[in-house]
Amino acid sequence: MKALVTGSAGFIGTHVSRAMLADGFDVTGYDQKDTDEPGVESVIGNFLDLESLTTAVRGHDVIVHIGAIGDVYLAATNPELAAAVNVTGSTNIALAAEAAGARVVYASTWEVYGDPVYEPVDENHPCEPDHPYNITKLAGERMLLAANRLRDVPVIALRLGTAYGLGMRPNSVFEIFIAKALAGEPITIQGDGSQGRQFTHARDIARAFVAAAKSEARGMPLNVVSPEMISIKQLAELVTERFPTEVTYGQPRPGDVTPSYVSASRIEEVLGWKAEVSFEEGMEELLSADRG
Ligand SMILES: NC(=O)c1ccc[n+]([C@@H]2O[C@H](COP(=O)([O-])OP(=O)(O)OC[C@H]3O[C@@H](n4cnc5c(N)ncnc54)[C@H](O)[C@@H]3O)[C@@H](O)[C@H]2O)c1
Repeated sequence: MKALVTGSAGFIGTHVSRAMLADGFDVTGYDQKDTDEPGVESVIGNFLDLESLTTAVRGHDVIVHIGAIGDVYLAATNPELAAAVNVTGSTNIALAAEAAGARVVYASTWEVYGDPVYEPVDENHPCEPDHPYNITKLAGERMLLAANRLRDVPVIALRLGTAYGLGMRPNSVFEIFIAKALAGEPITIQGDGSQGRQFTHARDIARAFVAAAKSEARGMPLNVVSPEMISIKQLAELVTERFPTEVTYGQPRPGDVTPSYVSASRIEEVLGWKAEVSFEEGMEELLSADRG
Protein backbone atom coordinates (compact mmCIF):
# COMPACT_ATOMS: atom_id res chain seq x y z
CA MET A 1 0.00 0.00 0.00
CA LYS A 2 1.18 3.52 -0.79
CA ALA A 3 0.83 6.21 1.85
CA LEU A 4 1.44 9.95 1.58
CA VAL A 5 2.29 11.47 4.96
CA THR A 6 1.89 15.25 5.29
CA GLY A 7 4.01 16.95 7.95
CA SER A 8 6.51 14.13 7.52
CA ALA A 9 9.47 16.35 8.47
CA GLY A 10 7.90 17.21 11.84
CA PHE A 11 7.99 15.40 15.17
CA ILE A 12 4.98 13.08 14.88
CA GLY A 13 5.30 12.79 11.09
CA THR A 14 8.81 11.35 11.46
CA HIS A 15 7.66 8.68 13.93
CA VAL A 16 4.61 7.82 11.81
CA SER A 17 6.61 7.61 8.55
CA ARG A 18 9.12 5.28 10.23
CA ALA A 19 6.36 3.02 11.63
CA MET A 20 4.54 2.87 8.30
CA LEU A 21 7.72 1.92 6.46
CA ALA A 22 8.41 -0.78 9.05
CA ASP A 23 4.89 -2.11 8.46
CA GLY A 24 5.53 -2.47 4.72
CA PHE A 25 3.95 0.73 3.34
CA ASP A 26 5.64 2.67 0.55
CA VAL A 27 5.85 6.13 2.10
CA THR A 28 5.91 9.52 0.39
CA GLY A 29 6.64 12.38 2.77
CA TYR A 30 4.92 15.66 1.86
CA ASP A 31 6.17 18.69 3.76
CA GLN A 32 7.43 22.21 3.21
CA LYS A 33 10.74 20.94 4.58
CA ASP A 34 12.82 18.04 3.34
CA THR A 35 11.94 14.73 5.00
CA ASP A 36 15.24 13.06 5.77
CA GLU A 37 13.88 9.79 7.19
CA PRO A 38 15.71 6.96 5.32
CA GLY A 39 13.41 5.07 2.95
CA VAL A 40 10.84 7.87 2.66
CA GLU A 41 10.47 9.54 -0.73
CA SER A 42 10.51 13.25 0.08
CA VAL A 43 8.24 15.65 -1.81
CA ILE A 44 8.57 19.31 -0.88
CA GLY A 45 5.16 20.92 -1.18
CA ASN A 46 2.54 23.08 0.47
CA PHE A 47 -0.90 21.53 0.89
CA LEU A 48 -2.45 25.00 0.58
CA ASP A 49 -1.64 24.61 -3.13
CA LEU A 50 -4.48 22.28 -4.13
CA GLU A 51 -3.19 21.63 -7.64
CA SER A 52 0.27 20.45 -6.63
CA LEU A 53 -1.21 18.51 -3.69
CA THR A 54 -3.64 16.70 -6.00
CA THR A 55 -0.76 15.77 -8.30
CA ALA A 56 1.36 14.51 -5.38
CA VAL A 57 -1.48 12.43 -3.91
CA ARG A 58 -2.26 10.62 -7.18
CA GLY A 59 -1.48 6.88 -6.94
CA HIS A 60 -1.59 6.73 -3.13
CA ASP A 61 -4.05 4.53 -1.21
CA VAL A 62 -3.98 6.54 1.98
CA ILE A 63 -3.17 10.10 3.05
CA VAL A 64 -1.98 10.46 6.62
CA HIS A 65 -2.63 14.13 7.30
CA ILE A 66 -0.32 15.24 10.09
CA GLY A 67 0.96 18.57 8.71
CA ALA A 68 -0.46 21.57 10.58
CA ILE A 69 0.31 24.59 12.71
CA GLY A 70 0.79 22.25 15.66
CA ASP A 71 2.49 24.83 17.87
CA VAL A 72 -0.19 26.25 20.17
CA TYR A 73 1.78 29.47 20.76
CA LEU A 74 2.31 30.06 17.04
CA ALA A 75 -1.43 29.51 16.47
CA ALA A 76 -2.21 32.12 19.15
CA THR A 77 0.09 34.75 17.66
CA ASN A 78 -0.79 33.95 14.02
CA PRO A 79 -4.45 32.85 14.06
CA GLU A 80 -4.83 33.65 10.34
CA LEU A 81 -2.01 31.20 9.57
CA ALA A 82 -3.56 28.53 11.82
CA ALA A 83 -6.93 29.01 10.10
CA ALA A 84 -5.43 28.71 6.63
CA VAL A 85 -3.15 25.73 7.30
CA ASN A 86 -5.38 23.77 9.67
CA VAL A 87 -8.77 24.42 8.07
CA THR A 88 -8.22 25.20 4.37
CA GLY A 89 -5.30 22.76 4.35
CA SER A 90 -7.47 19.91 5.68
CA THR A 91 -10.22 20.83 3.20
CA ASN A 92 -7.68 20.53 0.38
CA ILE A 93 -6.65 17.12 1.71
CA ALA A 94 -10.28 15.98 1.47
CA LEU A 95 -10.52 17.15 -2.15
CA ALA A 96 -7.18 15.62 -3.17
CA ALA A 97 -8.17 12.34 -1.49
CA GLU A 98 -11.47 12.30 -3.36
CA ALA A 99 -9.65 12.81 -6.69
CA ALA A 100 -7.22 9.96 -5.90
CA GLY A 101 -9.80 7.63 -4.32
CA ALA A 102 -7.64 7.60 -1.17
CA ARG A 103 -8.48 7.08 2.48
CA VAL A 104 -7.52 9.81 5.02
CA VAL A 105 -6.23 9.45 8.56
CA TYR A 106 -6.21 12.85 10.29
CA ALA A 107 -4.11 13.97 13.26
CA SER A 108 -6.61 15.69 15.55
CA THR A 109 -6.13 16.44 19.24
CA TRP A 110 -7.71 15.72 22.63
CA GLU A 111 -7.77 19.52 23.05
CA VAL A 112 -10.88 19.77 20.81
CA TYR A 113 -13.07 18.90 23.83
CA GLY A 114 -12.40 22.05 25.89
CA ASP A 115 -13.34 21.99 29.58
CA PRO A 116 -14.65 18.58 30.64
CA VAL A 117 -18.33 18.30 31.54
CA TYR A 118 -17.88 14.62 32.49
CA GLU A 119 -14.94 12.27 32.81
CA PRO A 120 -13.52 10.13 31.42
CA VAL A 121 -13.96 12.16 28.25
CA ASP A 122 -15.06 9.86 25.43
CA GLU A 123 -15.72 10.67 21.77
CA ASN A 124 -19.38 11.57 22.52
CA HIS A 125 -18.26 14.39 24.84
CA PRO A 126 -19.23 17.85 23.51
CA CYS A 127 -16.47 19.83 21.78
CA GLU A 128 -16.10 23.42 23.00
CA PRO A 129 -12.64 24.50 21.82
CA ASP A 130 -11.72 28.07 22.77
CA HIS A 131 -8.27 28.76 21.29
CA PRO A 132 -7.08 29.33 17.69
CA TYR A 133 -5.19 26.03 17.87
CA ASN A 134 -7.96 23.71 19.02
CA ILE A 135 -10.71 25.59 17.14
CA THR A 136 -8.86 25.21 13.83
CA LYS A 137 -7.92 21.58 14.54
CA LEU A 138 -11.59 20.74 15.17
CA ALA A 139 -12.69 22.66 12.07
CA GLY A 140 -10.16 20.67 10.00
CA GLU A 141 -11.47 17.43 11.50
CA ARG A 142 -15.07 18.39 10.76
CA MET A 143 -14.31 19.37 7.14
CA LEU A 144 -12.74 15.95 6.64
CA LEU A 145 -15.58 14.09 8.35
CA ALA A 146 -18.02 16.06 6.17
CA ALA A 147 -16.15 14.75 3.10
CA ASN A 148 -16.58 11.24 4.52
CA ARG A 149 -20.35 11.78 4.65
CA LEU A 150 -20.96 13.92 1.56
CA ARG A 151 -18.21 12.87 -0.88
CA ASP A 152 -17.63 9.27 0.18
CA VAL A 153 -14.00 9.87 1.16
CA PRO A 154 -13.16 7.36 3.91
CA VAL A 155 -11.88 9.43 6.86
CA ILE A 156 -10.82 8.55 10.38
CA ALA A 157 -9.67 11.21 12.87
CA LEU A 158 -7.25 10.39 15.67
CA ARG A 159 -7.56 12.74 18.65
CA LEU A 160 -4.02 12.49 19.97
CA GLY A 161 -2.92 12.98 23.56
CA THR A 162 -0.02 15.36 24.25
CA ALA A 163 2.84 13.62 22.51
CA TYR A 164 6.40 13.15 23.72
CA GLY A 165 9.47 11.29 22.53
CA LEU A 166 12.74 11.87 20.73
CA GLY A 167 12.53 14.68 18.16
CA MET A 168 10.08 16.91 20.05
CA ARG A 169 10.00 20.65 19.35
CA PRO A 170 12.56 22.55 21.50
CA ASN A 171 9.72 24.62 23.04
CA SER A 172 8.00 21.54 24.52
CA VAL A 173 7.94 21.42 28.33
CA PHE A 174 10.08 18.25 28.22
CA GLU A 175 12.86 19.80 26.14
CA ILE A 176 12.78 23.07 28.11
CA PHE A 177 13.08 21.26 31.47
CA ILE A 178 15.85 18.95 30.25
CA ALA A 179 17.85 21.77 28.59
CA LYS A 180 17.62 23.97 31.70
CA ALA A 181 18.59 21.14 34.05
CA LEU A 182 21.55 20.14 31.87
CA ALA A 183 22.73 23.77 31.88
CA GLY A 184 22.37 23.86 35.71
CA GLU A 185 19.69 26.57 35.45
CA PRO A 186 16.48 26.52 37.50
CA ILE A 187 13.37 24.86 36.06
CA THR A 188 10.26 27.04 36.29
CA ILE A 189 6.90 25.33 36.65
CA GLN A 190 4.08 27.58 35.44
CA GLY A 191 1.23 27.29 37.97
CA ASP A 192 1.43 24.93 40.95
CA GLY A 193 2.52 21.93 38.89
CA SER A 194 -0.54 19.85 39.81
CA GLN A 195 -1.93 20.11 36.26
CA GLY A 196 -1.75 16.69 34.61
CA ARG A 197 -1.54 15.35 31.08
CA GLN A 198 -1.89 11.89 29.58
CA PHE A 199 1.48 12.17 27.86
CA THR A 200 1.42 9.70 25.00
CA HIS A 201 4.61 8.36 23.45
CA ALA A 202 5.18 9.14 19.77
CA ARG A 203 5.82 5.43 19.02
CA ASP A 204 2.40 4.51 20.46
CA ILE A 205 0.83 7.31 18.41
CA ALA A 206 2.60 6.02 15.31
CA ARG A 207 1.16 2.51 15.89
CA ALA A 208 -2.32 4.02 16.02
CA PHE A 209 -1.78 5.68 12.62
CA VAL A 210 -0.61 2.40 11.10
CA ALA A 211 -3.66 0.56 12.48
CA ALA A 212 -6.02 3.32 11.28
CA ALA A 213 -4.44 3.37 7.80
CA LYS A 214 -4.97 -0.39 7.44
CA SER A 215 -8.47 -0.48 8.90
CA GLU A 216 -11.77 0.03 7.10
CA ALA A 217 -13.27 1.96 10.03
CA ARG A 218 -14.40 5.41 8.90
CA GLY A 219 -16.48 8.47 9.70
CA MET A 220 -15.43 8.74 13.33
CA PRO A 221 -12.97 10.32 15.75
CA LEU A 222 -10.95 8.07 18.07
CA ASN A 223 -9.03 9.19 21.17
CA VAL A 224 -5.38 8.08 21.20
CA VAL A 225 -4.14 8.60 24.75
CA SER A 226 -2.05 6.83 27.33
CA PRO A 227 -3.96 5.92 30.51
CA GLU A 228 -1.27 7.42 32.80
CA MET A 229 -1.98 10.93 34.14
CA ILE A 230 1.31 12.67 34.93
CA SER A 231 1.58 16.07 36.61
CA ILE A 232 4.06 18.72 35.52
CA LYS A 233 5.52 18.48 39.02
CA GLN A 234 6.16 14.73 38.56
CA LEU A 235 7.79 15.46 35.21
CA ALA A 236 10.07 18.08 36.80
CA GLU A 237 10.97 15.62 39.58
CA LEU A 238 11.99 12.93 37.10
CA VAL A 239 14.22 15.44 35.29
CA THR A 240 15.84 16.82 38.46
CA GLU A 241 16.42 13.33 39.90
CA ARG A 242 18.71 12.72 36.92
CA PHE A 243 20.09 16.25 36.47
CA PRO A 244 19.78 18.01 39.85
CA THR A 245 18.75 21.67 39.68
CA GLU A 246 16.44 24.10 41.48
CA VAL A 247 12.69 24.09 40.76
CA THR A 248 10.83 27.42 40.95
CA TYR A 249 7.15 28.29 40.41
CA GLY A 250 5.75 31.04 38.15
CA GLN A 251 2.41 32.33 36.88
CA PRO A 252 0.15 29.84 35.05
CA ARG A 253 0.54 30.07 31.25
CA PRO A 254 -2.42 31.74 29.50
CA GLY A 255 -4.18 29.45 27.04
CA ASP A 256 -3.25 26.22 28.82
CA VAL A 257 -6.06 23.72 28.46
CA THR A 258 -7.85 22.49 31.60
CA PRO A 259 -6.68 18.95 32.30
CA SER A 260 -9.26 16.24 31.79
CA TYR A 261 -9.13 12.46 31.90
CA VAL A 262 -9.63 11.10 28.39
CA SER A 263 -10.73 7.55 27.61
CA ALA A 264 -9.10 5.37 24.95
CA SER A 265 -11.72 2.58 25.20
CA ARG A 266 -13.20 3.18 21.76
CA ILE A 267 -9.94 2.84 19.82
CA GLU A 268 -9.23 -0.38 21.69
CA GLU A 269 -12.59 -1.75 20.51
CA VAL A 270 -12.31 -0.43 16.93
CA LEU A 271 -8.60 -0.85 16.14
CA GLY A 272 -7.33 -3.01 19.00
CA TRP A 273 -4.91 -0.21 19.99
CA LYS A 274 -3.72 0.64 23.44
CA ALA A 275 -0.65 2.49 24.70
CA GLU A 276 2.35 0.28 25.39
CA VAL A 277 5.16 2.70 26.33
CA SER A 278 5.04 3.54 30.06
CA PHE A 279 5.91 7.09 31.08
CA GLU A 280 8.86 5.77 33.07
CA GLU A 281 10.23 3.99 29.98
CA GLY A 282 9.63 6.99 27.69
CA MET A 283 11.34 9.37 30.12
CA GLU A 284 14.30 7.04 30.56
CA GLU A 285 14.81 7.14 26.78
CA LEU A 286 14.62 10.96 26.72
CA LEU A 287 16.89 11.47 29.72
CA SER A 288 19.56 9.11 28.40
CA ALA A 289 19.50 10.51 24.84
CA ASP A 290 22.78 11.85 23.49
CA ARG A 291 22.23 15.62 23.19
CA GLY A 292 25.58 16.37 21.57
N1 LIG B 1 2.79 17.27 19.36
C1 LIG B 1 1.68 17.02 20.08
O1 LIG B 1 1.74 16.90 21.32
C2 LIG B 1 0.34 16.86 19.40
C3 LIG B 1 -0.78 16.48 20.17
C4 LIG B 1 -2.00 16.35 19.54
C5 LIG B 1 -2.12 16.55 18.17
N2 LIG B 1 -1.02 16.92 17.45
C6 LIG B 1 -1.16 17.13 16.01
O2 LIG B 1 -0.20 16.32 15.36
C7 LIG B 1 0.29 16.98 14.20
C8 LIG B 1 1.80 17.05 14.19
O3 LIG B 1 2.30 17.69 15.35
P1 LIG B 1 3.86 17.88 15.55
O4 LIG B 1 4.07 18.13 16.99
O5 LIG B 1 4.60 16.78 14.88
O6 LIG B 1 4.10 19.25 14.77
P2 LIG B 1 5.38 19.78 13.96
O7 LIG B 1 5.28 21.26 13.98
O8 LIG B 1 6.62 19.12 14.49
O9 LIG B 1 5.15 19.23 12.49
C9 LIG B 1 4.24 19.82 11.59
C10 LIG B 1 4.83 19.70 10.19
O10 LIG B 1 3.85 20.18 9.26
C11 LIG B 1 4.54 20.86 8.22
N3 LIG B 1 3.63 21.82 7.58
C12 LIG B 1 3.02 22.87 8.17
N4 LIG B 1 2.29 23.55 7.26
C13 LIG B 1 2.44 22.89 6.08
C14 LIG B 1 1.93 23.11 4.76
N5 LIG B 1 1.12 24.14 4.52
N6 LIG B 1 2.28 22.25 3.79
C15 LIG B 1 3.12 21.21 4.05
N7 LIG B 1 3.64 20.96 5.27
C16 LIG B 1 3.29 21.79 6.27
C17 LIG B 1 5.70 21.57 8.94
O11 LIG B 1 6.73 21.92 8.02
C18 LIG B 1 6.11 20.51 9.98
O12 LIG B 1 7.15 19.68 9.48
C19 LIG B 1 -0.40 18.34 14.16
O13 LIG B 1 -1.51 18.21 13.31
C20 LIG B 1 -0.86 18.56 15.58
O14 LIG B 1 -2.00 19.37 15.62
C21 LIG B 1 0.21 17.08 18.03
